[in-house]
Amino acid sequence: MADTTSPVTASDEQVDDKSRRRFLTLATGAVGGVGVAVAATPFVTYFRPSARALFLGAPVQVDVSKIEMGSLLRVEWRGQPVYIVRRTAEALANIKKGVELVADPESNLSTQPEYAKNDTRSRDDEYLVVKGVCTHLGCAPQYLPSVTATEVQQPWFGGFFCPCHGSKFDLAGRVFRGVPAQSNLEVPPYQFLDGSSLIIGEDGGASA
Ligand code: FES
Repeated sequence: MADTTSPVTASDEQVDDKSRRRFLTLATGAVGGVGVAVAATPFVTYFRPSARALFLGAPVQVDVSKIEMGSLLRVEWRGQPVYIVRRTAEALANIKKGVELVADPESNLSTQPEYAKNDTRSRDDEYLVVKGVCTHLGCAPQYLPSVTATEVQQPWFGGFFCPCHGSKFDLAGRVFRGVPAQSNLEVPPYQFLDGSSLIIGEDGGASA
């Protein structure tokens, strides 16, 4: 019988074109299956595990060392998108600058493992791992890391904007005050295996 808890693995290859847009093509492997992912827009790359892995709800393993600083990798886990953002030092500083704008700065009303209940909502400041599911009605928030993003009203220090009803989240996934969503983006269980591998859906029981 197959081991249904084995993580999916991914490796990636980056191609840099003259327009400086970042495209990643990720070849993915799972127990008994292979999936292919294609990147589409600057700062956002996409990784889709195999259909079998999705069906099984298996943990997903990702090589995060290939994510460019400031970029987002979208991964599917248990049929839901998970965003992995590699935050720059500037992004981390901007999280502090915007703390007055958020509704639940200490994540007391939000869902995350205990190890992500901190200022950056993460195990490692450099990597944010959150479900890409708006906590209002479930749309997929857009990643808008630039402080000059025109899609949102200022003040804006970078984060996520939900186009469905206008909810906003900072670069730690914390929800703004006065928007439809009432809680921060959910953090799934995860752990780092070493300096480059991240497993989503498994944390050695740390969140139990
Ligand atoms: Fe995101 Fe309504 S679903 S604001």
